[in-house]
Amino acid sequence: MELSDGVVTLRPWLKDDAGFMAEAFADPAILRFNGALDRLGRPSPVSLGDAEAIIDGWAADWRAFDAGGGRSPVVFAIVDAKTRELAGCCGMDDWSKADVVQFGYWLAPAARGHGYATRAAILMTRWLFELGAARAFVTIVTDNEASIAVARRAGFQYEGTMRDHGVWQGQRCDVMWFAALPHEWPLR
Ligand SMILES: CC(C)(COP(=O)(O)OP(=O)(O)OC[C@H]1O[C@@H](n2cnc3c(N)ncnc32)[C@H](O)[C@@H]1OP(=O)(O)O)[C@@H](O)C(=O)NCCC(=O)NCCS
Repeated sequence: MELSDGVVTLRPWLKDDAGFMAEAFADPAILRFNGALDRLGRPSPVSLGDAEAIIDGWAADWRAFDAGGGRSPVVFAIVDAKTRELAGCCGMDDWSKADVVQFGYWLAPAARGHGYATRAAILMTRWLFELGAARAFVTIVTDNEASIAVARRAGFQYEGTMRDHGVWQGQRCDVMWFAALPHEWPLR
């Protein structure tokens, strides 16, 4: 399964991508905004072995997606459409019973500043609506300006801020909610 706009391609993660993932999670911004946090908001580094296990889990998610009629969460790698070089990740966190889908994204530091994340978010959203999602949303910590800009460029509407919804290094933080609905999404 691949999605592409000719510049960026989304494809399932491969076991060989584990080194790229482990290196990406050495980036403080990826750890901060995409890492698995404990209850005090402390992230854990991702080792090569962790990355391989995560990718194995995502392969199982793809099998469940295929078996279940395409309404369960799956995760893509973002690659350059021409060179196939790895750039980052765009994946669903949840597909609810009410067909509401949450997804997220990150780019390795070297891949930022070219519009890849915005293209990936647009490809993902278009595909979600084709699959029958009734609503797609992303949640973003209020000080993550780069991600807020991605959500806005991808045609998502700001819906509000959940105060103290997140925790980072022992401090509560506010989280913004951005969503797109199929009938009003401007980029459909
Ligand atoms: C959030 C994140 C993915 C945004 O990455 P990004 O590279 O800024 O976003 P895009 O790929 O959409 O690129 C947009 C930038 O490329 C520039 N750009 C250059 N060429 C472009 C092109 N052809 N098309 C679109 N944008 C282009 C844009 O001007 C913009 O730069 P600016 O912010 O300086 O104006 C990245 O900062 C990241 O991975 N952060 C850490 C993890 C994270 O926060 N994840 C999100 C959790 S909610």
